[in-house]
Amino acid sequence: MDLGVCYYPEHWPEDRWAIDAAQMREVGLSRVRIGEFAWSRIEPKPGRFDWGWLDRAVEALHEAGLGIIMGTPTATPPKWVVDQMPDMIAIDRDGKPRGHGSRRHYCFSHAGYRAEAARITRAVAQRYGGHPGVVAWQTDNEYGCHDTVQSFSGSARDAFRTWLATRYGSIEALNAAWGNVFWSMEYRSFDEVELPNLTVTEANPAHWLAFRRFSSDQVIAFNRIQVDILRECSPGRDITHNAMGFYTGYDHHDLAADIDVLGWDSYPLGFLEMFRFSEEEKRAYAHQGHPDIAAFHHDLYRGCAIDGRWSVLEQQPGPVNWARYNPAPLPGMVKLWTMEAFAHGAELVSYFRWRQCPRAQEQMHAGLLRPDGEPAPAFAEAREAADALGEFQGLDQSATPRHAAIVFAYDAEWITQIQPQGQGRSALWAAFACYSALRKLGLNIDIVAPSADLSDYPMVVIPCLPIVPDALVAALEDYEGEVVIGPRTGSRDDDFAIPHNLAPGKLGPLVGGTITLSESLPDRLDERGSHGVTGGWYDHYSGKAEPAMEGERDQTLCWKHGRVRLCTTWPDRSAFATVLEQAARDAKLPVQNLPEGIRERQIGNVIVRSDYLNAETSWRTT
Ligand code: GAL
Repeated sequence: MDLGVCYYPEHWPEDRWAIDAAQMREVGLSRVRIGEFAWSRIEPKPGRFDWGWLDRAVEALHEAGLGIIMGTPTATPPKWVVDQMPDMIAIDRDGKPRGHGSRRHYCFSHAGYRAEAARITRAVAQRYGGHPGVVAWQTDNEYGCHDTVQSFSGSARDAFRTWLATRYGSIEALNAAWGNVFWSMEYRSFDEVELPNLTVTEANPAHWLAFRRFSSDQVIAFNRIQVDILRECSPGRDITHNAMGFYTGYDHHDLAADIDVLGWDSYPLGFLEMFRFSEEEKRAYAHQGHPDIAAFHHDLYRGCAIDGRWSVLEQQPGPVNWARYNPAPLPGMVKLWTMEAFAHGAELVSYFRWRQCPRAQEQMHAGLLRPDGEPAPAFAEAREAADALGEFQGLDQSATPRHAAIVFAYDAEWITQIQPQGQGRSALWAAFACYSALRKLGLNIDIVAPSADLSDYPMVVIPCLPIVPDALVAALEDYEGEVVIGPRTGSRDDDFAIPHNLAPGKLGPLVGGTITLSESLPDRLDERGSHGVTGGWYDHYSGKAEPAMEGERDQTLCWKHGRVRLCTTWPDRSAFATVLEQAARDAKLPVQNLPEGIRERQIGNVIVRSDYLNAETSWRTT
């Protein structure tokens, strides 16, 4: 695994570049990511390029022996681009424009902006595509950051209509699939279909699902334009993009299919503060991040990526600036996070950023260097990580065990967001809960798409998958391991309707019956019994399966039909974890009960142990 850093030569005087580059090498870094926000310096005026500074920066970094990951600067169109076509600005759900002055202000559907993005991408790719120092490309930056995938603009509406026409063929087919007769919502032509915002009460969930799919496809199409140009102008270089944490705005399986390496940006302390962790977890792990945050995304994005090639393109090195509160990591955490990424098979960990910037939006965001250019605490830890990684050069990863697969699909999360039915009952967080429960058992987990080959896994968990594709049905028919299925699985068809044979739809034969009624339950109705906490949801089952776990009030928490367990309680309740442990034992997996804050992951013959409470990382061989 390589170490790298995100660097912005345009923020610093030119005489610093060679000093910075030499110091990067001293720390043990071999990669540097640059350029992703530099459009206004590359092309200060329309068509007038200023390459001189970037040529010299590339040279300085290359001469120091750093491999450059060059970003296309399309996340930050300069003011003159906006002035040339003001309607390229994205429109938010309330109908308000998302103006210039920060970043990501473009609408993915705007044809003029797509052409501009292609033009600047080609210019940069032609300039540096053959440079020996440029080893990889990053497209844009964090698609969807600041909630920017969906745009409710005129361009989006027009493109959505075209997209619907392609998908449904006729307006009658759309009306039927969506059930538009329900409130006299039937359309006479695709030109009558509006975007699903600004309705009086909720729009038809099928309308929303189509719009979520469309918005995702727009991201993929936008990205593909850049990928095609980069492949043409810079053959042989990897193309990557940086995904985010707990973010599902577009289908990452689709994006990953077009690129070589899927990156993601790991900010465990910010994510702990901003996402749905308990007060107790926030207190215990304020300076470490919850022990499963980074690991979950490592395994999720490895599962999305072609050939499992993934990296951390941005790694938190100290306090960030964007969470509600921004504590510093405990001494040791930067090294621990780096080794955790190694344990999950990353190709690269790149710290964000090299030097804290004294001006503009991210003044309070730490780097490896302080604003005055002196080392920040993470500097020494990056060096320690580089030394530790030296021990593992050439590690044979083929011996990495596959214990359990968790099946996750992006449309599952879209469905539970569009129609939660019970507040907070989310497919993504159901997957996280299952992941966390299995990880506490010391297992190696892969998070995979419903189309994945499951045959190598002793155990498969489907936490919450409303739409079950045929490929998964087929894979499960021949599957010989243990299966655990959670609520809402198979509960919708492709157009958001309840299947004619009820949930779990096509999986009915697998579980030997159907769900006849679903209840969502508030947290206050949670029950504590001998199997742990139950609640959040309750599915009433009818069929041939045997009760495998009974609750305290005459409800069945888990049904068993052959090697398939059907759980009726929500996956983030501990009774579900009890079911997972039973299934793991039946699958003869090497179950451990790791102490609080301890996690282990095996890569090749190396087991990396992370002690999150004490910020210590260690490893042993099997
Ligand atoms: C990421 C982004 C970076 C920077 C960083 C700060 O979301 O890609 O450009 O803003 O957050 O933590």
